[in-house]
Amino acid sequence: MSALSVEQLVAGYEPGLPIVKGASLRVETGEIVAILGPNGAGKSTLIKAVAGLLPVVSGAIRFQGRDMRNVPAHRLIREGLAFVPQTENVFANLTVAENLELAGFFLGRSRSCRLQAMYALFPDLARQRSLLAGRLSGGQRQMLAVARALLVEPAMIMLDEPSAGLSPKLVAQVFEKLAEVRATGITILMVEQNVKAALALADRAYVLVEGRERLEAPAAELRGSRDLAALYLGGAAA
Ligand SMILES: Nc1ncnc2c1ncn2[C@@H]1O[C@H](COP(=O)(O)OP(=O)(O)OP(=O)(O)O)[C@@H](O)[C@H]1O
Ligand SMILES: [Mg+2]
Repeated sequence: MSALSVEQLVAGYEPGLPIVKGASLRVETGEIVAILGPNGAGKSTLIKAVAGLLPVVSGAIRFQGRDMRNVPAHRLIREGLAFVPQTENVFANLTVAENLELAGFFLGRSRSCRLQAMYALFPDLARQRSLLAGRLSGGQRQMLAVARALLVEPAMIMLDEPSAGLSPKLVAQVFEKLAEVRATGITILMVEQNVKAALALADRAYVLVEGRERLEAPAAELRGSRDLAALYLGGAAA
């Protein structure tokens, strides 16, 4: 059984105007899978629909074998599927510690233990726990967003462009952390514009074009692939 399977998903923002037009993908337990594709392809829309933030028009979403269509985001987290949005993923006016405490508010007794686990995984955050999140560097802020998602011990996390706005050095740091996260047994699905970094980290990737997946392959095969370049350029593809 796949960790996540999405079949023929149709979703969008307005009735009768689908943005995701029948996209299918699957993520096996323990995998890192990347969703690539040109701007406006519908990557964020797809991941938001899976994360319960947009209504699903049709198609199937199964997480660990269970139907998750139109399950709201807060319930998905309790089912073990966490989401890190691209922007506004931390509370800038709260401290690092407050951001983490808020993310774990329903954990009860295990909360302080989980907080310690996150500070162990992200030593930068431990050092800066009293700092307002808005004052963190871009990379640290992204780490905080990931830590907030991991706090509730999800089986899988989905990230929308974890490298957005980061310098190459910070991208490397965030992606190293994601590799550590996967090593703890957590499955990862991420949307990425940074094709090179994504293909260096991921096991497999999908290329989404105009709301449909056009290419699926092991990441190693896609590095330097002409089919991939063609899909980005919108030419006579693959
Ligand atoms: N909130 C919204 N309301 C209406 N239409 C939207 C909204 N967000 C995105 N869209 C439209 O959906 C289409 C796909 O957008 P989406 O954000 O999913 O693309 P993307 O692949 O994530 O692109 P990018 O790489 O630029 O982040 C675009 O045409 C966009 O205009
Ligand atoms: Mg996007």
